Amino acid sequence: MLLSIDRRELCLAQLGKERTCRPAGMCERRFAFDLPMSAQYVMRVTVIGGSGRTALLLTADLVAAGVEVTATIRSERGRAAARDAGAVAVGLDLERIDHVALQSAIASRDAVVYAAGAGYGSSSALKRAIDRDAAQTVVAALMAENQPPRLVMISTMGADAAIAGAESGFEYYFRMKGEADETIAKSGLSWTIVRPSGLTDSPPTGRVHLGVGLDGGTLPRGDLATLLLRILIEPTGTHALFDVTTGSDPINSVDLSAFERKWP
Ligand SMILES: NC(=O)c1ccc[n+]([C@@H]2O[C@H](COP(=O)([O-])OP(=O)(O)OC[C@H]3O[C@@H](n4cnc5c(N)ncnc54)[C@H](OP(=O)(O)O)[C@@H]3O)[C@@H](O)[C@H]2O)c1
Repeated sequence: MLLSIDRRELCLAQLGKERTCRPAGMCERRFAFDLPMSAQYVMRVTVIGGSGRTALLLTADLVAAGVEVTATIRSERGRAAARDAGAVAVGLDLERIDHVALQSAIASRDAVVYAAGAGYGSSSALKRAIDRDAAQTVVAALMAENQPPRLVMISTMGADAAIAGAESGFEYYFRMKGEADETIAKSGLSWTIVRPSGLTDSPPTGRVHLGVGLDGGTLPRGDLATLLLRILIEPTGTHALFDVTTGSDPINSVDLSAFERKWP
């Protein structure tokens, strides 16, 4: 994917040279993969649930890489945080979706990242609304586009549409995420589904382990954001679904194409 040379050129050049970049207000982050540049084209990405902790780190990384970011967020406080990270923030409540606002937030984008989640301790109704229904509404909105953007979904390790009978708690969360993932996988869109282990705010390590059917572990949100940046920048890893946790493989060298497969 080609990126723009603009006022963030210096920062972008630093990224490509394995040096550090410190977006305003964010912790110091280090990238080791090359970000190709072009004066012709600015990549445009929309982050749904843009006030989340992973979403804000990702937004700052994308902006530092010269990407134009739109963040959809329900609260003015959240929108202010996303603006501080460099995004254009627009209002969107995922429990009461304004379809016109959603369509305008995703139109003509290269990619959309679904980063929203009902969160720990939320009710089953909220899990259903945010972790499944709103994600499925975003899929439908993407499919209505003439040239649908790629969808990158932050799911969860353990997501499984086939968990029977669970009506609350983690199992219900896993089922809701699994059902959303199933809709995405069958949608015909270009997509990547990332299933992280337990997220932490620990300093990023720059190293991960990717696999299928992994169980347990934790992952700093900063490492998840760096992996998402790489997924968005690279054309590989489309129609790929994988778990991710902390490991020993540098994020810049994990083979995303190893998880590509054909879906029905
Ligand atoms: N936490 C974990 O250990 C874990 C593990 C695996 C996967 N995940 C998944 O990873 C993703 C990112 O996690 P995170 O911990 O970085 O996220 P987070 O900080 O909990 O942020 C969640 C986001 O969802 C938004 N949201 C919730 N209800 C909404 C509504 N009705 N309308 C609009 N937005 C709404 C929140 O908006 P507000 O700011 O307005 O509340 C916030 O932006 C989520 O999908 C989560 O399910 C999390």
